[in-house]
Amino acid sequence: MTIKNIMSRRSVRSYSGEPLNAEDLGKLRAFINEVNGTSGIFGNNVRLQYLENGEVEKLGTYGVIQGARAFIAAACKKGAYDMEDVGYQFEKLILFATGLDLATVCLGGTFSRGAFSKAMNLNEGEALPIVSPVGHEGGKKSLLGRFIKSNAGNRKPWGELFFDGDFNTPLAAGDEFTVALEAVRQAPSAINAQPWRIMKDGDSVFHFYSAGKTDMNRMDMGIALCHFEVAVAEKGIEGQFKVLERSNGGEFKYLVSWIKD
Ligand SMILES: Cc1cc2nc3c(=O)[nH]c(=O)nc-3n(C[C@H](O)[C@H](O)[C@H](O)COP(=O)(O)O)c2cc1C
Repeated sequence: MTIKNIMSRRSVRSYSGEPLNAEDLGKLRAFINEVNGTSGIFGNNVRLQYLENGEVEKLGTYGVIQGARAFIAAACKKGAYDMEDVGYQFEKLILFATGLDLATVCLGGTFSRGAFSKAMNLNEGEALPIVSPVGHEGGKKSLLGRFIKSNAGNRKPWGELFFDGDFNTPLAAGDEFTVALEAVRQAPSAINAQPWRIMKDGDSVFHFYSAGKTDMNRMDMGIALCHFEVAVAEKGIEGQFKVLERSNGGEFKYLVSWIKD
């Protein structure tokens, strides 16, 4: 999980069908075990799993994904901040796969919940909000895949996402946190909605808010927290996430703050 992985990742919807080699598969499985042994920022245990198409009933993706043979998926017991923790833990795996030169795309809507739930042996009280193919890019792109793709790569400008002290003052880039905020800006989000809004407070505190309302937007927020954390850690800046007593900022819902040590 590196800044390079964050910057190079993009959604891939056409796969060559070539299986993962044994070495990559071994590394992926070991990483899944490692992440499954930890909990998310808000204390939820997310269950990540590697699944192969064919091992189980055909895993469906409604024609959006072509040629995928293997998937990664995340299940989580329903509870407070569950979706944020799913996004946070799942994105670690997405970035790890990117580091192995494997292609992925988060799917929160366009997959067959029935087939995946069965493959995951979903327990009572667990949700299965996100899956991703994992493999090598290749093959022919589906029309739908091409259409969705044409919308990717665009990100909102800094001034719409990052603020200084209040939501009327856009944050200027240029300090030690610029890379971490850019890592958030480059994060994937459902329908590329980019619901993250971050307010800098003094020199060393960042408050994370969401402009989104859906469960998918809550996963988007968790993904952004993962990117921020990976980037600050790589820059050698230490700090922690903490939920503070803060009110919402108009239509932006407060989630959590990051405080430098
Ligand atoms: C929580 C979440 C759910 C998503 N669900 C879908 C989906 O159901 N189908 C799909 O084709 N892409 C899905 N995406 C991928 C986004 O469309 C994609 O990340 C966004 O357009 C930005 O493009 P990029 O990932 O290439 O940077 C999802 C992404 C996230 C983070």
